[in-house]
Formats: sequence, C-alpha cells, structure tokens
Amino acid sequence: MTSIDGAVFRRQLKSDLTRAVEARGVWIVDAAGKRFIDGSGGPLVVNVGHGREEIAAAVAEQIRRCDYVHPTMFTGASVEALARRLADKAPRGIQRFYFMTSGSEAVETAVKLARQIHLERGQPQRYRTISRWKSYHGLTLGALAVTGRTTFRTPFAPMLPENHHIPAPYCYRCPYGLTYPNCGLRCADALEEAIWNLGPQTVSAFLAETVSGATIACVVPPPGYLQRIREICDRYGVLLILDEVFCGLGRTGHWFAAEHFDVVPDLVTLGKGLSGGTAALSAVGVQRDHFETIRGGSGAFMHGGTYSHHLVACAAANAVLDIFEAEDLVTRVAETGPRLGAMLRQRLGDHPRVGDIRGLGFMWGVELVADRDSRRPFPRADQVTEKLYHRLYDDGVLLYKSTGLAGLDGDAMVVGPPFVATDDDLEQIVEALGRAVVAELGS
Ligand SMILES: Cc1ncc(COP(=O)(O)O)c(C=O)c1O
Repeated sequence: MTSIDGAVFRRQLKSDLTRAVEARGVWIVDAAGKRFIDGSGGPLVVNVGHGREEIAAAVAEQIRRCDYVHPTMFTGASVEALARRLADKAPRGIQRFYFMTSGSEAVETAVKLARQIHLERGQPQRYRTISRWKSYHGLTLGALAVTGRTTFRTPFAPMLPENHHIPAPYCYRCPYGLTYPNCGLRCADALEEAIWNLGPQTVSAFLAETVSGATIACVVPPPGYLQRIREICDRYGVLLILDEVFCGLGRTGHWFAAEHFDVVPDLVTLGKGLSGGTAALSAVGVQRDHFETIRGGSGAFMHGGTYSHHLVACAAANAVLDIFEAEDLVTRVAETGPRLGAMLRQRLGDHPRVGDIRGLGFMWGVELVADRDSRRPFPRADQVTEKLYHRLYDDGVLLYKSTGLAGLDGDAMVVGPPFVATDDDLEQIVEALGRAVVAELGS
C-alpha cells in the first residue's frame, strides 16, 4: 500500500490503493510483487495486452519525429492513416473521423455534431437529445446529461442540460414487465412516444450504447430492437448516435458492434480500446453525407480542443490496429467469445445467486440476485459487488464492477479480458469468479 496522505486527489479517498509497477500481457504486478490477472483490462480498455513494445516504439518514434502540432495548423501522417483505417472498417458510409481524448468528449462531440448537422440543414429547432436510463456515456457535464445512471446524475442534476431518457432494452428486468418477443419491442417504441411528446421537429438525436456497458453489465439488445430504433429515427429525421466507446473495436467479435445488428448509425463514438489504454484517445465517426452537409455549409465544425487529433495518440492507435491485424484479434474474439460465455455458464449458471449471464465476444456480465425465481436483487447496502471484487482482488484476479441494475440495487461483475488472453487465462478468470461467488454467497 502507498500512503493515502500524498498529494494526489484520487477518486476514492477513504481507501488506499496499491501501487502498480509493471504490466505485461494479461498481468499487472504491484510494488509488493503480487501478480494480478487483468480479467477486465481495467474498464475494458486493454485489448492487445499490456506492455506492447510495438506501441511503445511507435509512440517514441512519433514523439522524436513530430510530437505536437495544433490541429487547426497542421495535420500529420498518423492522424490521416488512423482515420482512413477506421473508415475502411466502419459501418457503411461512416467515412470521416474526428479525434478527441476521452469517451465523454467523444459523446459530447457527437451530440454537438448532430445539432450542427441540423443547423446546416436549416432546422435550428432541432436541439433535443434522447438517450436511455441505465446507460453510461461519461461523467463530464454534457456526457452526464445523457448518461442514465441515477447515482452519478443525482448530485449534479440541477446543473445538467435538458435531456430525455427512455427505458433500456433490458429483457432480464423488462421495464414494462413484458417478455420478448411477445413484448413487440415495447422499449423501442418508447422512442417514438418520446419523440411525439417532445415534438418531432425539436429532436436532434437518439443516443444509445450498441451493447450496454458497465451500468447493466453487457446487456445485448433483443433481435429487432436496433432496427426498430433505426426506423423510428428515420421516420422523424432524428440522427442515430451509437456509443461504441465500450463495445466497439473488436470487443464483441466485430470491428463495430453495430454489425451484429445490421444497423448503420449516423454517428458512432469510439474510445477506450482505440489506443489499447496507452494514450488518451477517442473518436467520432460520421456518415459522409453529414460531413458534406457541414463542408458545403459553414465549412467548419464549431468544436475542438488542444489535444484533439493528437499525433502521438493516433500513432499509438495505429500500432494497436497493426497488432489487431497481425494477430487477427477480432477473429480470435469472435471465435473464443462464445466459449468464454459457455465457460461462465458452466461454472456459474446453476448457482442459486446467479440470475443471468449475458454478453458477446469478450464482454460478459454475470448478474447476482438474492432470489433467482423472483429476480429480487440484493440491497445495495449489502455491497455484494464490492465484496466479490475484493475477494477476487485478494485472489489476484481483477474484474469490473457493475451496480444499480435494479432500481438503485443490483449487482454484477463484468468479465472483459484482453483479446490476447489464452484459453488458460480465461479458465483461471472464470474459475476465480466461481470460487469468489461460492465463498461470498454460498454454494
Ligand atoms: C459507452 C461509454 N461511453 C462513454 C464513456 C466515457 O468514457 P471516458 O471515461 O473515457 O470519458 C464510457 C466509459 O466507460 C462508456 O462505457
């Protein structure tokens, strides 16, 4: 442990943190020599493994050759190459990429970009964004406004810009008490209802995670949901922003998670794994037509930042993509992901406190419940997720926490290993989670 009395203002102030001194592959080592297997790559950031020499070399080379230029003064080869490579992999028509530094910034950039597209089209009355409850889009004020995670929003609610939320497509806890497919996708139709209520001519964009991230632990929308959402957006001239900060770039076994659902967004956000965790980098991809609307109109997006389009961060991301391609990592995730899900189901599926196991590729959520039949959650005061996290930590395994799935209660653990994790690594992670669940919640 390090001293809690240093000069750093940390996120958690009442508990101390261990100092990490080395990270290689799927392993992190602390100052005392304890080894942790990184079963979630932090918050599902580390995809190509820790400590990749190729990224270090690319970053060092970029800094030596040309470290910083202001994005309104110059461009550079690393930025141009990254945008081209992402455009080649992106859903149909997404042809231009705007780079920022965090997922929150990417989300705010997308929300602003949607608004400016409407302005350029002569529709200044469109300014409203609709998003979903139980979503996560970041914690800066603009991103928090669209985020639907109550505990993060409540303290700052009076400061948040106007935003509207509809229920999430969370079949395990259907907000309408219905069952798929008899529900008729009621949760998707909630978007149309919200658009009617707000006035269709006032709505700018609908924003959603393609596959839900940490807030409700890797919930995959039911078949037809995103297509229905796309149809509703089209009917009312509302732009669809898919947030793939968590689930994009191979995490689900496709380059973009939207590919699973055959849906093409107007805008898409990326972050986290884009640099494999080595540099602060995020991106917004936009349809060519929308880009041309702005180019042919005012000719400038009213946005930017000192560190936008950063040469060094983009060099890191190009090195990440080189590794993806050389090691065929998206295929590895597509092929191994279902096996990871099967391993989780086999080890934990029958446990009386495991309510649901869901996910895609290398992102899986294991939801814990007090009662399996009624799906009653543990009260938040029991801190089930936190206890499991600490038990796993002591056991040398790191997983990501998810809480507040059922009202303010609810617990889940998120498994999201680096894509280079071997089958043995995956078994170790699953086995450790199984042990922790039994030790904490009984057999
Ligand atoms: C889907 C999604 N969007 C946006 C964000 C915000 O990203 P950041 O923490 O880099 O600001 C996150 C972070 O977890 C996320 O999962």
